[in-house]
Amino acid sequence: MRAASRVVLDPQRRGEAVRQFEDALRRKIVGQESALDAVVSWYQTFQAGLHPPGRPIANLLFLGPTGTGKTRVVEAVAETLFGDPRALVKIDCAEFQHSHEIAKLIGSPPGYLGHRETHPLLTQEALNQWHSERLRLSLVLFDEIEKASDAVWQLLLGILDKATLTLGDNRRVDFSQAVIFMTSNLGAAEMGGLMHGGPGFAPATELTPQLDAKMDRVAIEAARRKFSPEFMNRIDRMLVFRTLRSEDLEAILDLELGLVQQRILNATGARPFVFDCTATAKQLLLHQGYDPHYGARHLKRAIERNIVFPLAKLISTGQVKLGDLVRIDTDPVAETLLFVREAEGLLMPTGREGFAADAASGAGLGRGRVAGRRVEFPLAHEG
Ligand SMILES: Nc1ncnc2c1ncn2[C@@H]1O[C@H](COP(=O)(O)OP(=O)(O)O)[C@@H](O)[C@H]1O
Ligand SMILES: [Mg+2]
Repeated sequence: MRAASRVVLDPQRRGEAVRQFEDALRRKIVGQESALDAVVSWYQTFQAGLHPPGRPIANLLFLGPTGTGKTRVVEAVAETLFGDPRALVKIDCAEFQHSHEIAKLIGSPPGYLGHRETHPLLTQEALNQWHSERLRLSLVLFDEIEKASDAVWQLLLGILDKATLTLGDNRRVDFSQAVIFMTSNLGAAEMGGLMHGGPGFAPATELTPQLDAKMDRVAIEAARRKFSPEFMNRIDRMLVFRTLRSEDLEAILDLELGLVQQRILNATGARPFVFDCTATAKQLLLHQGYDPHYGARHLKRAIERNIVFPLAKLISTGQVKLGDLVRIDTDPVAETLLFVREAEGLLMPTGREGFAADAASGAGLGRGRVAGRRVEFPLAHEG
C-alpha cells in the first residue's frame, strides 16, 4: 500500500491577489506595520470566504495619536480595492453627539415630520454602492468613536455583534459583507506624556521598540477604561498606531509630493510639467508641517500653501510650460522657497505684489548671468 504523501503547508504564504493588495497598501502608508498586517489578514480571510457568518467580516479598532494614519489606512484600502479613497461609508462620530442626530444615520420613523426628506447614511444602498460582481464588500468607518453619543453606541453594538441595523422605517440593513473600522485617539494624551514628558512622565529621548510596547499598553488600557466590556468583546483586533519618526515624515512628504505631481499631470492636460524639491526645500516643508501633537496632519496643508498655491499661480500666468522642470529650492538666506525653471535655466518671477524682481535677479543661486528673475514665497505658517 502507498503511504499518503505528507506535506507541511505554509500558512504564512500569501495568494497573488492578497500580495498585490498588501503591496499597494504599503506604497500608500508609511510604517504602521502591525495595523497593515491586521488589515491584510482580514482581506486574506475574506478572499478565502472564511470570515465568520452572521457578523461583519471584521471589526477593527485603530488607536493611537492624531495624524498617524488611522483614517488614511481606511482610505488607502478603499483606493486599493475600488480605485477611490472615498469608496467607503464614513461616520464622523463627532457629528452625532445629540440623540436627535441619529436620524441622519438611520432615518426617522414613518409619519414623523420630514420623514421623506431624510436620506439616512446607513442604508443598504449606501453600503452596497461600490459592490461589483467581483467584489461584494463594504467598508464602513466610524471615525473618532470616543465622541459618539449613547444612541450611536447602541447602534454600533448591534452592528458589531449581529451585523444588522434596523432603520427608522423598520427596514433591515445587513452588514455581513462589511468591514467595520473604528478609530479613536483615546490614550493619545498619555502616549504623548510618555514621549514628551507630560505630568508624571519622564520624557523619552528615543522611540525604541520598548517605548512602542509601552505606548501600546497605555492606549489599550485607556480604551478598556473608557469603553464597555460588551464593546471590547466585539472587537476582533485593536491596533495601536505608532508615533511617527522623522524618517516616516520624510517618507510621507515624498508620498504627498508624488500626489501633487499626479494632480499636476491630471490637471494640466496639454502642458504637463514636472517639479522637483531639493533636500533643503523638503526640510523647510517638514519644519512647517510637523507638529508632535498633530502628527502629519499639517504636512498636507503646508504643501498646499507652499507648493500647490504658488504652482497654480505659475500655471495660470503661463510661466510654466509643457515639459518644463521646475526645481523648488530654498533661499539660503531668507526662509523662503524659490521656484526655478530648470529647463531654460531661468529663475521665474511670481507676480507677488511689490516684489522687486530685477533687484533680486539671480541672487544666491549662481545664475547671475541669466537674465531671469526669481520667485520668492515666504513660507505660510500654520495659523
Ligand atoms: N502612516 C502614514 N502614512 C502615510 N500618510 C500618513 C500617515 N500618517 C499620516 N499621514 C498623512 O497625514 C494625513 C492625516 O492622517 P490621518 O490618517 O487623518 O490621521 P489620524 O490618525 O488622526 O486619523 C493623512 O491624510 C496622510 O496624508
Ligand atoms: Mg482620523
